[in-house]
Amino acid sequence: MNKPNAYVTRWMPEEALDLIRPHANLRQWEPADVPVPRETLLSEAREAEGLLVFLTDRIDQDLLDAAPKLRVVSNCAVGFDNIDVPACTARGVAVGNTPGVLTETTADLAWALLMAAARRLGEGERIVRGGKWKSWSLMYLVGQDVYGATLGIVGMGRIGAAVARRGLGFGMRILYCDRSPNEQAERELGANRVSMEELLAESDFVSVHLPLGPETRNLFGAEEFRKMKRTAIFVNTARGGVVDQAALARALAEGEIAAAGLDVYVTEPLPMDDPLLGLENVVLAPHIGSASVRTRTGMARIAAQNLVAGLLGEPLPHPVNPEVRRA
Ligand code: GLV
Repeated sequence: MNKPNAYVTRWMPEEALDLIRPHANLRQWEPADVPVPRETLLSEAREAEGLLVFLTDRIDQDLLDAAPKLRVVSNCAVGFDNIDVPACTARGVAVGNTPGVLTETTADLAWALLMAAARRLGEGERIVRGGKWKSWSLMYLVGQDVYGATLGIVGMGRIGAAVARRGLGFGMRILYCDRSPNEQAERELGANRVSMEELLAESDFVSVHLPLGPETRNLFGAEEFRKMKRTAIFVNTARGGVVDQAALARALAEGEIAAAGLDVYVTEPLPMDDPLLGLENVVLAPHIGSASVRTRTGMARIAAQNLVAGLLGEPLPHPVNPEVRRA
Protein backbone atom coordinates (compact mmCIF):
# COMPACT_ATOMS: atom_id res chain seq x y z
CA MET A 1 0.00 0.00 0.00
CA ASN A 2 1.20 3.51 -0.76
CA LYS A 3 2.33 5.42 2.26
CA PRO A 4 0.90 8.94 2.78
CA ASN A 5 3.12 11.99 2.31
CA ALA A 6 4.20 13.90 5.38
CA TYR A 7 6.26 17.07 5.61
CA VAL A 8 8.24 18.13 8.69
CA THR A 9 9.16 21.81 8.73
CA ARG A 10 12.36 21.66 10.81
CA TRP A 11 15.18 19.46 11.96
CA MET A 12 14.08 16.88 14.56
CA PRO A 13 15.91 14.16 16.47
CA GLU A 14 16.22 10.86 14.60
CA GLU A 15 14.29 9.02 17.31
CA ALA A 16 11.22 11.14 16.50
CA LEU A 17 11.65 10.78 12.74
CA ASP A 18 11.98 7.01 13.20
CA LEU A 19 8.46 6.96 14.62
CA ILE A 20 7.16 8.56 11.41
CA ARG A 21 9.19 6.71 8.75
CA PRO A 22 7.32 3.38 8.85
CA HIS A 23 4.03 5.21 8.22
CA ALA A 24 4.84 7.98 5.76
CA ASN A 25 6.94 9.17 2.87
CA LEU A 26 8.80 11.76 4.82
CA ARG A 27 10.08 15.04 3.46
CA GLN A 28 11.68 17.65 5.66
CA TRP A 29 13.05 21.19 5.80
CA GLU A 30 16.43 20.47 7.29
CA PRO A 31 18.19 23.70 8.34
CA ALA A 32 17.84 23.77 12.13
CA ASP A 33 18.00 27.53 12.61
CA VAL A 34 16.02 28.86 9.67
CA PRO A 35 12.24 28.50 9.44
CA VAL A 36 10.92 26.97 6.25
CA PRO A 37 10.20 29.75 3.72
CA ARG A 38 6.48 30.30 3.25
CA GLU A 39 6.68 29.49 -0.48
CA THR A 40 8.36 26.17 0.25
CA LEU A 41 5.78 25.30 2.87
CA LEU A 42 2.93 26.15 0.51
CA SER A 43 4.38 24.04 -2.25
CA GLU A 44 5.25 21.09 0.02
CA ALA A 45 1.73 21.23 1.51
CA ARG A 46 0.22 20.59 -1.92
CA GLU A 47 0.85 16.83 -1.77
CA ALA A 48 1.02 16.42 2.02
CA GLU A 49 -1.50 14.45 4.02
CA GLY A 50 0.26 15.35 7.24
CA LEU A 51 2.32 18.34 8.39
CA LEU A 52 4.50 18.43 11.47
CA VAL A 53 5.03 22.11 12.19
CA PHE A 54 6.48 24.49 14.78
CA LEU A 55 5.38 27.77 16.29
CA THR A 56 7.23 29.71 13.58
CA ASP A 57 4.95 28.23 10.89
CA ARG A 58 1.60 29.84 10.12
CA ILE A 59 -1.17 27.40 9.29
CA ASP A 60 -3.97 29.57 7.96
CA GLN A 61 -6.72 29.50 5.39
CA ASP A 62 -4.29 30.16 2.52
CA LEU A 63 -2.21 27.20 3.50
CA LEU A 64 -5.26 24.98 3.87
CA ASP A 65 -6.43 26.09 0.41
CA ALA A 66 -3.05 25.01 -0.96
CA ALA A 67 -3.22 21.62 0.78
CA PRO A 68 -6.25 19.70 -0.49
CA LYS A 69 -5.03 16.32 0.82
CA LEU A 70 -4.18 17.49 4.32
CA ARG A 71 -5.62 15.39 7.18
CA VAL A 72 -3.46 16.26 10.17
CA VAL A 73 -1.38 19.19 11.46
CA SER A 74 0.84 18.28 14.39
CA ASN A 75 2.27 21.30 16.21
CA CYS A 76 5.49 20.71 18.14
CA ALA A 77 4.45 23.13 20.92
CA VAL A 78 1.76 23.37 23.54
CA GLY A 79 0.57 26.77 22.24
CA PHE A 80 -1.22 26.73 18.90
CA ASP A 81 -1.92 30.39 18.15
CA ASN A 82 0.06 29.86 14.91
CA ILE A 83 -2.75 27.63 13.66
CA ASP A 84 -6.22 28.64 12.54
CA VAL A 85 -7.89 25.77 14.41
CA PRO A 86 -11.51 26.59 13.40
CA ALA A 87 -10.44 26.59 9.73
CA CYS A 88 -8.72 23.21 10.22
CA THR A 89 -11.79 21.81 11.97
CA ALA A 90 -14.08 23.05 9.21
CA ARG A 91 -11.98 21.06 6.74
CA GLY A 92 -11.78 17.96 8.91
CA VAL A 93 -8.06 18.48 9.55
CA ALA A 94 -7.03 17.13 12.96
CA VAL A 95 -4.69 19.37 14.97
CA GLY A 96 -2.38 18.11 17.72
CA ASN A 97 -0.08 19.74 20.27
CA THR A 98 2.39 18.72 23.00
CA PRO A 99 0.97 19.57 26.42
CA GLY A 100 2.20 18.17 29.72
CA VAL A 101 5.72 17.17 28.75
CA LEU A 102 6.97 20.77 28.92
CA THR A 103 5.16 21.95 32.05
CA GLU A 104 7.97 21.69 34.59
CA THR A 105 10.68 22.88 32.21
CA THR A 106 8.70 25.99 31.33
CA ALA A 107 7.97 26.64 35.00
CA ASP A 108 11.72 26.43 35.68
CA LEU A 109 12.37 29.09 33.06
CA ALA A 110 9.66 31.36 34.47
CA TRP A 111 11.45 31.07 37.79
CA ALA A 112 14.84 31.72 36.22
CA LEU A 113 13.45 34.96 34.79
CA LEU A 114 11.69 35.86 38.03
CA MET A 115 14.86 35.41 40.07
CA ALA A 116 17.11 37.09 37.52
CA ALA A 117 14.82 40.11 37.28
CA ALA A 118 14.34 40.33 41.07
CA ARG A 119 18.07 40.23 41.78
CA ARG A 120 19.19 42.19 38.69
CA LEU A 121 21.37 39.40 37.36
CA GLY A 122 21.35 40.56 33.74
CA GLU A 123 22.53 44.01 34.75
CA GLY A 124 25.15 42.52 37.06
CA GLU A 125 26.50 40.26 34.32
CA ARG A 126 26.80 43.15 31.91
CA ILE A 127 28.66 45.17 34.54
CA VAL A 128 31.12 42.39 35.37
CA ARG A 129 31.77 41.49 31.72
CA GLY A 130 32.08 45.15 30.74
CA GLY A 131 34.80 45.81 33.35
CA LYS A 132 32.51 48.34 35.08
CA TRP A 133 32.51 46.76 38.53
CA LYS A 134 34.23 49.32 40.76
CA SER A 135 33.61 48.18 44.33
CA TRP A 136 31.27 46.44 46.73
CA SER A 137 28.92 48.94 48.35
CA LEU A 138 25.96 48.71 50.67
CA MET A 139 23.15 49.51 48.27
CA TYR A 140 24.86 48.36 45.07
CA LEU A 141 22.46 46.58 42.66
CA VAL A 142 19.86 46.04 45.34
CA GLY A 143 16.76 44.28 44.06
CA GLN A 144 13.58 42.72 45.40
CA ASP A 145 13.21 39.83 47.84
CA VAL A 146 11.62 36.68 46.51
CA TYR A 147 11.32 34.80 49.79
CA GLY A 148 8.04 35.58 51.54
CA ALA A 149 6.71 37.71 48.67
CA THR A 150 3.29 37.47 46.98
CA LEU A 151 3.17 35.63 43.65
CA GLY A 152 0.30 36.43 41.28
CA ILE A 153 -0.37 33.78 38.66
CA VAL A 154 -2.50 34.84 35.71
CA GLY A 155 -3.80 31.58 34.23
CA MET A 156 -3.73 28.71 36.74
CA GLY A 157 -3.44 25.85 34.25
CA ARG A 158 -0.72 23.22 34.24
CA ILE A 159 2.21 25.64 33.86
CA GLY A 160 0.74 28.30 36.14
CA ALA A 161 0.27 25.70 38.89
CA ALA A 162 3.83 24.41 38.43
CA VAL A 163 5.17 27.96 38.81
CA ALA A 164 3.01 28.47 41.90
CA ARG A 165 4.19 25.18 43.42
CA ARG A 166 7.78 26.37 43.25
CA GLY A 167 6.68 29.47 45.15
CA LEU A 168 5.83 27.35 48.20
CA GLY A 169 9.52 26.62 48.67
CA PHE A 170 10.07 30.36 48.82
CA GLY A 171 7.41 30.87 51.47
CA MET A 172 5.24 32.80 49.03
CA ARG A 173 1.59 33.71 49.23
CA ILE A 174 -0.09 32.62 46.00
CA LEU A 175 -2.86 34.61 44.31
CA TYR A 176 -4.33 33.69 40.98
CA CYS A 177 -6.76 34.79 38.30
CA ASP A 178 -8.52 32.38 36.03
CA ARG A 179 -11.86 32.05 34.28
CA SER A 180 -12.57 29.02 36.45
CA PRO A 181 -11.35 27.99 39.88
CA ASN A 182 -8.48 25.52 40.16
CA GLU A 183 -9.53 23.61 43.25
CA GLN A 184 -6.42 21.46 43.30
CA ALA A 185 -4.20 24.56 43.38
CA GLU A 186 -6.36 26.04 46.13
CA ARG A 187 -6.18 22.85 48.17
CA GLU A 188 -2.54 21.92 47.62
CA LEU A 189 -0.89 25.33 47.26
CA GLY A 190 -3.22 27.43 49.36
CA ALA A 191 -3.72 29.59 46.25
CA ASN A 192 -6.41 32.28 46.47
CA ARG A 193 -8.52 33.11 43.43
CA VAL A 194 -8.92 36.89 43.22
CA SER A 195 -9.98 39.52 40.68
CA MET A 196 -7.39 40.79 38.21
CA GLU A 197 -7.63 44.15 39.97
CA GLU A 198 -6.69 42.61 43.31
CA LEU A 199 -3.96 40.43 41.84
CA LEU A 200 -2.29 43.42 40.18
CA ALA A 201 -2.50 45.56 43.31
CA GLU A 202 -1.25 42.90 45.74
CA SER A 203 1.37 40.88 43.88
CA ASP A 204 5.10 41.40 44.11
CA PHE A 205 5.52 39.11 41.09
CA VAL A 206 3.00 38.71 38.28
CA SER A 207 3.58 35.69 36.04
CA VAL A 208 1.50 35.09 32.92
CA HIS A 209 0.44 31.59 31.82
CA LEU A 210 -2.38 32.12 29.34
CA PRO A 211 -2.80 30.99 25.76
CA LEU A 212 -2.90 33.75 23.15
CA GLY A 213 -6.34 34.26 21.62
CA PRO A 214 -8.85 37.02 20.95
CA GLU A 215 -9.69 37.26 24.68
CA THR A 216 -6.12 37.50 25.90
CA ARG A 217 -4.44 39.64 23.22
CA ASN A 218 -3.04 42.82 24.82
CA LEU A 219 -4.52 41.81 28.17
CA PHE A 220 -1.64 43.62 29.85
CA GLY A 221 -1.54 47.28 28.81
CA ALA A 222 -0.68 50.67 30.30
CA GLU A 223 -3.54 50.53 32.77
CA GLU A 224 -2.58 47.09 34.12
CA PHE A 225 1.04 48.12 34.65
CA ARG A 226 -0.14 51.28 36.43
CA LYS A 227 -2.18 49.16 38.82
CA MET A 228 0.84 47.07 39.78
CA LYS A 229 3.17 47.97 42.66
CA ARG A 230 6.14 50.14 41.72
CA THR A 231 8.31 47.35 43.13
CA ALA A 232 6.52 44.64 41.14
CA ILE A 233 8.15 42.31 38.66
CA PHE A 234 6.36 41.06 35.56
CA VAL A 235 7.21 37.67 34.02
CA ASN A 236 5.96 36.41 30.66
CA THR A 237 6.72 32.93 29.36
CA ALA A 238 3.36 32.55 27.56
CA ARG A 239 3.06 34.55 24.34
CA GLY A 240 4.21 38.08 23.51
CA GLY A 241 0.81 39.05 22.14
CA VAL A 242 -0.74 38.84 25.60
CA VAL A 243 1.11 42.05 26.38
CA ASP A 244 1.09 45.52 24.84
CA GLN A 245 4.86 45.49 24.51
CA ALA A 246 5.24 49.23 23.97
CA ALA A 247 3.22 49.90 27.12
CA LEU A 248 5.42 47.46 29.04
CA ALA A 249 8.58 49.20 27.83
CA ARG A 250 7.12 52.57 28.93
CA ALA A 251 6.14 51.20 32.36
CA LEU A 252 9.68 49.84 32.83
CA ALA A 253 11.31 53.07 31.62
CA GLU A 254 9.14 55.25 33.84
CA GLY A 255 9.52 53.06 36.91
CA GLU A 256 5.84 52.15 37.13
CA ILE A 257 7.05 48.62 37.76
CA ALA A 258 10.51 47.58 38.91
CA ALA A 259 11.51 44.99 36.34
CA ALA A 260 10.42 42.28 33.94
CA GLY A 261 11.60 38.88 32.75
CA LEU A 262 10.48 37.94 29.26
CA ASP A 263 10.83 34.86 27.10
CA VAL A 264 8.29 35.78 24.42
CA TYR A 265 7.65 38.83 22.24
CA VAL A 266 5.12 40.22 19.81
CA THR A 267 7.68 39.78 17.03
CA GLU A 268 10.30 37.05 17.30
CA PRO A 269 13.23 37.40 17.03
CA LEU A 270 12.91 40.70 18.92
CA PRO A 271 13.77 43.48 16.43
CA MET A 272 17.01 45.27 17.29
CA ASP A 273 15.24 48.66 17.45
CA ASP A 274 12.76 47.51 20.10
CA PRO A 275 12.71 49.88 23.11
CA LEU A 276 13.03 46.90 25.50
CA LEU A 277 16.63 46.49 24.34
CA GLY A 278 17.53 49.92 25.70
CA LEU A 279 16.36 49.09 29.23
CA GLU A 280 18.48 47.67 32.04
CA ASN A 281 15.55 46.47 34.13
CA VAL A 282 14.35 43.71 31.84
CA VAL A 283 15.80 40.23 31.43
CA LEU A 284 15.34 38.99 27.87
CA ALA A 285 15.41 35.32 26.88
CA PRO A 286 14.99 34.06 23.29
CA HIS A 287 11.80 31.91 23.62
CA ILE A 288 13.48 28.98 25.37
CA GLY A 289 10.78 28.10 27.92
CA SER A 290 10.72 24.38 27.12
CA ALA A 291 14.33 24.17 25.95
CA SER A 292 15.87 21.32 27.92
CA VAL A 293 17.26 18.34 26.02
CA ARG A 294 14.83 15.93 27.64
CA THR A 295 11.75 18.09 27.16
CA ARG A 296 12.44 19.12 23.59
CA THR A 297 13.14 15.48 22.69
CA GLY A 298 9.89 14.47 24.41
CA MET A 299 7.97 17.16 22.50
CA ALA A 300 9.39 15.91 19.21
CA ARG A 301 8.31 12.37 20.07
CA ILE A 302 4.76 13.44 20.97
CA ALA A 303 4.48 15.57 17.84
CA ALA A 304 5.55 12.54 15.77
CA GLN A 305 2.95 10.34 17.53
CA ASN A 306 0.20 12.90 16.85
CA LEU A 307 1.22 13.05 13.18
CA VAL A 308 1.25 9.27 12.77
CA ALA A 309 -2.13 8.86 14.50
CA GLY A 310 -3.62 11.48 12.17
CA LEU A 311 -2.15 9.77 9.10
CA LEU A 312 -3.57 6.41 10.22
CA GLY A 313 -7.00 7.96 10.83
CA GLU A 314 -6.76 7.25 14.55
CA PRO A 315 -7.57 9.67 17.41
CA LEU A 316 -4.57 11.90 18.18
CA PRO A 317 -2.94 11.23 21.58
CA HIS A 318 -3.03 15.01 22.21
CA PRO A 319 -5.79 16.52 20.11
CA VAL A 320 -6.58 20.25 19.94
CA ASN A 321 -9.81 19.68 18.00
CA PRO A 322 -11.00 16.22 19.08
CA GLU A 323 -14.30 16.87 17.35
CA VAL A 324 -12.52 16.02 14.09
CA ARG A 325 -12.97 12.29 13.74
CA ARG A 326 -12.02 10.05 10.86
CA ALA A 327 -13.51 6.85 9.65
C1 GLV B 1 6.23 27.11 23.30
O1 GLV B 1 6.14 28.29 23.32
C2 GLV B 1 5.13 26.21 23.26
O2 GLV B 1 3.98 26.66 23.08
O3 GLV B 1 5.34 25.00 23.38
